Amino acid sequence: MNSLSIMITLIITLILILSLFIFFLYIFLSKNKNFITKNRIKEYEERINHYIYILNKLNDGLAIIDKDKNILFVNSAFKDNIRSASFPNNIKKFELLIRNFELNRLIDNIINKDDIDSIEKKISYFDKADEKTVNCIVFKIKNTKKYAIIVRNMTYLQKIENTRSTFIQNISHEVKTPITAIMGFVETLKNGAMDNHNTGIKFLDIIEHHTKRLNYLIDDLITLTKIETGKSPVKSEKISIKSTIEHSLMLFEKEIKENKLDINKNIEDALFISDHSKINQIIINLIQNAVKYTDKGGVIKIESSIISAITAYNFISEMEDTSILWDNLPGKGDYKEFFFFSIEDTGIGVNYTNLLRLGERFFRVNSSHTTEYKGTGLGLAIIKHTLKLLNGAAVLKSSLGNGFMFTFIIPLSQDFTQNLSQERNL
Ligand SMILES: Nc1ncnc2c1ncn2[C@@H]1O[C@H](COP(=O)(O)OP(=O)(O)OP(=O)(O)O)[C@@H](O)[C@H]1O
Ligand SMILES: [Mg+2]
Repeated sequence: MNSLSIMITLIITLILILSLFIFFLYIFLSKNKNFITKNRIKEYEERINHYIYILNKLNDGLAIIDKDKNILFVNSAFKDNIRSASFPNNIKKFELLIRNFELNRLIDNIINKDDIDSIEKKISYFDKADEKTVNCIVFKIKNTKKYAIIVRNMTYLQKIENTRSTFIQNISHEVKTPITAIMGFVETLKNGAMDNHNTGIKFLDIIEHHTKRLNYLIDDLITLTKIETGKSPVKSEKISIKSTIEHSLMLFEKEIKENKLDINKNIEDALFISDHSKINQIIINLIQNAVKYTDKGGVIKIESSIISAITAYNFISEMEDTSILWDNLPGKGDYKEFFFFSIEDTGIGVNYTNLLRLGERFFRVNSSHTTEYKGTGLGLAIIKHTLKLLNGAAVLKSSLGNGFMFTFIIPLSQDFTQNLSQERNL
């Protein structure tokens, strides 16, 4: 073999080795590339799952749709915020999922108008009997033909806002009425009525009446606010219930006599420990209502006693369907003895719809009678809150024209009742 052929053989061998090397390198790289890509996809999938998990934890509802309103993504809150019915997974069209006309119109606006990128609107709708309010934001997702819808539940905030504005309206009205009367009579007095002694005294009496009314109103509001803000701690005092009820009745002696009301009492001479001023206030407010809303010659029946847990729970469970229960008694077994108080009158009563609303601040039954009976509609609200504080429950029973019955039951702390039951037996 000459040197040329050796050279050629060498070159061919080299080329072969190089090609083999390139071939193996190619195989190696392409396998690795596959490996890297698979890893990447897995990583992306995990990341997407994390994001979906987080999006499903949000309180705000989020849905993503395309320009034909096909659903691409929807999180759990979206379903809860805009509709309560069960949510089939196979629905693909947004309109079929959410039939809310206003929201669909917002989305159509964004899709059809190129110059609008985002719209925000508060939407109220009825879900069965409940009014719900949601804040909706619909926007185009940049550089795509996709749209995002964010739905925030504002029902709770809206309710607070409504309560606040109704409260301000009511309070302004309640304050304005006596102030207008006071100003009017002061003006009349200044313009000469003062010269006549009898007229002067009569007008001053009216001014005094309205001033007292304002004072009661402020007192009631302070009481309610203190209870609601937890600034009215429950005290433990010895209560003789018979004398408490007798003293409360004495406050209305004049009205009872004037209206020839028959007071029928069945009061156990019991002693127990609870918050005296709170129980006293509940009883006074209830007697006041019974006296106020019972016509001449009516009967008011008052019953009061210490009852066992079985009797207490039975009373609540056996209440009629048309009665209303305020709160409930604490868990069975927590208390052995309960204080029971019931007041029933033969007065004007209230219908079922109004019965449901009693205890709302400033709620008074709107009837032709209303102007006859003075009041602000805070008495039962105070009772409701106070009972809650005392862990008690109440049953309200009434029908229009057929009287009114209010029963409340309060659990009594065991340590004290043991000592007192000895005293009771003395
Ligand atoms: N015994 C009752 N019989 C009939 N209606 C009643 C009776 N008790 C309460 N009501 C109705 O419930 C409403 C609310 O009672 P609530 O005691 O809260 O307010 P009020 O008596 O009007 O005023 P106040 O704040 O002075 O107590 C009353 O206006 C009345 O319409
Ligand atoms: Mg009242």
